[in-house]
Amino acid sequence: MIAVIGSQGLLGRHVMAHLVRSGYTVVTSSHRPGADVCIDLREPVKPFPFRFRNVSWAVLCSAISGLDQCARDVAGSYRFNVVHTIEFIEQLFHHHVVPIFCSSDLVFAGISGNYAEHDPRNPSTEYGRQKKIVEDYLLGQDRPWIILRLSKLYATTPDDRSPIGDTVRRLQYGERVRCAVDQMITPTYVQDVARIIEWCIRTNRRGCYHVAGPQSMTRYELGLKIAKRLQAEARIERCSIAELNLSEIRPLNNTLDTHKLRSDYDGSLTTLDECLSEILQLPVER
Ligand SMILES: NC(=O)c1ccc[n+]([C@@H]2O[C@H](COP(=O)([O-])OP(=O)(O)OC[C@H]3O[C@@H](n4cnc5c(N)ncnc54)[C@H](OP(=O)(O)O)[C@@H]3O)[C@@H](O)[C@H]2O)c1
Repeated sequence: MIAVIGSQGLLGRHVMAHLVRSGYTVVTSSHRPGADVCIDLREPVKPFPFRFRNVSWAVLCSAISGLDQCARDVAGSYRFNVVHTIEFIEQLFHHHVVPIFCSSDLVFAGISGNYAEHDPRNPSTEYGRQKKIVEDYLLGQDRPWIILRLSKLYATTPDDRSPIGDTVRRLQYGERVRCAVDQMITPTYVQDVARIIEWCIRTNRRGCYHVAGPQSMTRYELGLKIAKRLQAEARIERCSIAELNLSEIRPLNNTLDTHKLRSDYDGSLTTLDECLSEILQLPVER
């Protein structure tokens, strides 16, 4: 039995649906109504949910995942993303459950890019620092765990809130979109991550994997790629990331080296080009 923690978020929804389709018995948790178990990581998880008694793997999708929210509310996000998350993982270990922790490319400094699994981590954002602390906790354990460091996720559904979905919506509303020429992004199809998580479980993986889509580009190149399909290139405006006045200085290049995944994984990763027609509801470009 597999537990999906945070089953109503972007990744959680896709993981849950994919595991069910693949024939696994899944028990879901959410802080919202509609899941098997209510888990709200703003508070400590106590007692350990009875419904998890036959669980062997838990996919931890829950997080305060907004960089701005983590920077604005350092104490609150730290309690959720670090304190209560580690306490919950300790309970999982105690019940012989293997945690699959969804970490981020933001554990790296974001200077050189193309980071490999063993490269030193030196996060520059509060969110990245919080992910690193949970990673450090797992790295110090002699019990089995998986860390997946993810790049920017997107979905092909109209409610996608990623920079891809946002850019599509704004261009379709006739707005101009400012896109940084100095920040790299690696769009990663959420459905691929769900498949990789199923593969981790099926093949009994352990350790850390970098998970990122096959194409990295600047935010500006991403904007142009989408705008070109909508014939709206003139509405993409060049800027630097610093000009966007975000709550924290953003790292510029957190791209991940995915060699380890590509040599072990038996599936393939989808390019944004392959998904764009579906996202834009346009005929497939050949
Ligand atoms: N999206 C990305 O681009 C990206 C990139 C790198 C890493 N990640 C990591 O991947 C994981 C999944 O990301 P996501 O994009 O799916 O997240 P998301 O859409 O921002 O959703 C937030 C997640 O946290 C859960 N959650 C929210 N409030 C909660 C609460 N009070 N108590 C317990 N759970 C709560 C949500 O599940 P419920 O609403 O069901 O409780 C959901 O799973 C996160 O750990 C994130 O940091 C994401």
